[in-house]
Amino acid sequence: MNQVAKVQADALQTVLQYHQATKHRFEGHARGPGYLDWATQPNPFRRFEGARLVPLERIPPTDEPRYDDAFVQGRIPPASVNVRSISQLFYDSLAVSAWKSIGETSWALRVNPSSGNLHPTEGYLICGPIDGLCDVPMVCHYAPKEHVLEVRSEFGFGLWTKLCEGFPSGTLFLGLTSIHWREAWKYGQRAFRYCQHDIGHAIGGMSIAAAGLGWQTTILDDLGTDELALLMGTVWDDGAEPEEPDVLMAVVPCVTDAKESGLPQDQVLAFASLDWRGTPNQLSPSHVDWGMDEPAAATRKPRGLGRYDSFHDPLTTSSLDVRCVPLRKLIRQRRSAVAMDRETRIDRETFYRMLQKTLAIPGTIPFRTLPWKPHLHLAIFVHRVDNLPTGLYFLVRDCSQRRALERALTQASRWRRPIGCPDGLELYCLIETDARQTARQVSCFQDIASDGCFSLGMIAEYEEPLKRYGPWFYPRLFWEAGVIGQVLYLEAEAAGIRSTGIGCYFDDPMHEVLGLMDHAYQDLYHFTIGGPVEDTRLTTLPSYQDA
Ligand SMILES: Cc1cc2nc3c(=O)[nH]c(=O)nc-3n(C[C@H](O)[C@H](O)[C@H](O)COP(=O)(O)O)c2cc1C
Repeated sequence: MNQVAKVQADALQTVLQYHQATKHRFEGHARGPGYLDWATQPNPFRRFEGARLVPLERIPPTDEPRYDDAFVQGRIPPASVNVRSISQLFYDSLAVSAWKSIGETSWALRVNPSSGNLHPTEGYLICGPIDGLCDVPMVCHYAPKEHVLEVRSEFGFGLWTKLCEGFPSGTLFLGLTSIHWREAWKYGQRAFRYCQHDIGHAIGGMSIAAAGLGWQTTILDDLGTDELALLMGTVWDDGAEPEEPDVLMAVVPCVTDAKESGLPQDQVLAFASLDWRGTPNQLSPSHVDWGMDEPAAATRKPRGLGRYDSFHDPLTTSSLDVRCVPLRKLIRQRRSAVAMDRETRIDRETFYRMLQKTLAIPGTIPFRTLPWKPHLHLAIFVHRVDNLPTGLYFLVRDCSQRRALERALTQASRWRRPIGCPDGLELYCLIETDARQTARQVSCFQDIASDGCFSLGMIAEYEEPLKRYGPWFYPRLFWEAGVIGQVLYLEAEAAGIRSTGIGCYFDDPMHEVLGLMDHAYQDLYHFTIGGPVEDTRLTTLPSYQDA
């Protein structure tokens, strides 16, 4: 085995061990603090002190575009790239959406959800000159509390022109990083997983926000982690908590089927000698080491390798009708349900429609942003769906996996297509039963998993893709889960109900429910959808003074 292969093999072992070690079990949760140390609570807002600020516009949501149009490529005409559209892009993806308060305490909610509302995800923009925004190319950090860009570096036209040579005119780049400490402060060792879920939600949110402007997003997965750090300028060595660079997306302001070529290495390396401005703020006075460095190091991606086989899934979806729901109102009103009412029901068609939206059919948004074929499938506990028996259902999101899943899910009594299930939706009823207690149990006894219309576990093809691609694919499985979750959050809002991501679940007990005997598949995320019960003790305040 050569040296590179040996390093990757060791890293894969680290990842597999991390995953095992961070399973919640009935006997005990993954290693964590078990209490909240308020003295070290991390500041939820990273700032780069001394960086020049570029204000963004706050744009109240309008009736257009319609929500459903954003999910089909080419339905929304591309907006011009200018300060307004860039403002809109961030306002609809990473901005503050409201403030909540109780007594003396208040906290911000954002357009993107986050485990524990801790928001480890930071956003970056790399762009050329943009009308009303900047005259020269720049790298900026997005500061959500103020809804401004902090200019970290400006650079020459020559570098910019060469950097985006292979991309259509007007292309810009969005980057995401994670501050693991923010999440580890509360959740300990399992936090690395939650950071990846949050990245997935942010990728989904940014893709949908861009789609609302008629723009396309694609992950540039040829890049290595070190290159991402150079491009976003996240290399510093003082006391400020590090940011782990996760992903860079190309945002193309037109509809095109052309494959983007990737960023040229020489130009990426030139970012190392840029003049970086602003000092990152320290978020906590002291830290506890919850072992985030091991999975982070093991999943860092080398350059190359991120070129995936193009996939063609023969599934087709019936063309869904377009509802009169305004996209941006829905995006900004999204909230997690804190409790479900145990009575709201949805009709079967609404249920099927929500599931159809989670399919990664080529060209559909937001899944076209992910360059790999779908690796996640849904094990669904149906509780309150009209004209559908309660029980355990399974949605196969990549039909080439159907036979393998049939063999793996040894608890399934039969694979029966439910009544009225649309063609192209590979949904099966495995067991007819009252699944409420089981659903609640496997989601760490959280009532939200049993009191809604349905809840689910996202079952990932696990060992095979990790061996095929490498340990760096581990976070990507969670990103796919987060993107599916983001779609479900919005689908619930569109149906007039609510949903919640569930990161706290018992891994192996869920595998037992399904009869999964080995590590070919693993449960990576739970989700619930239903009629919410509002927490009336809380006061809601607007996102920004003038919003
Ligand atoms: C990855 C992830 C895991 C979550 N896990 C849970 C959970 O186990 N239980 C729960 O009640 N809420 C959970 N949530 C919901 C968050 O608490 C919620 O997103 C956060 O408080 C922000 O509120 P918002 O979604 O209304 O903006 C999770 C959210 C995400 C994104």
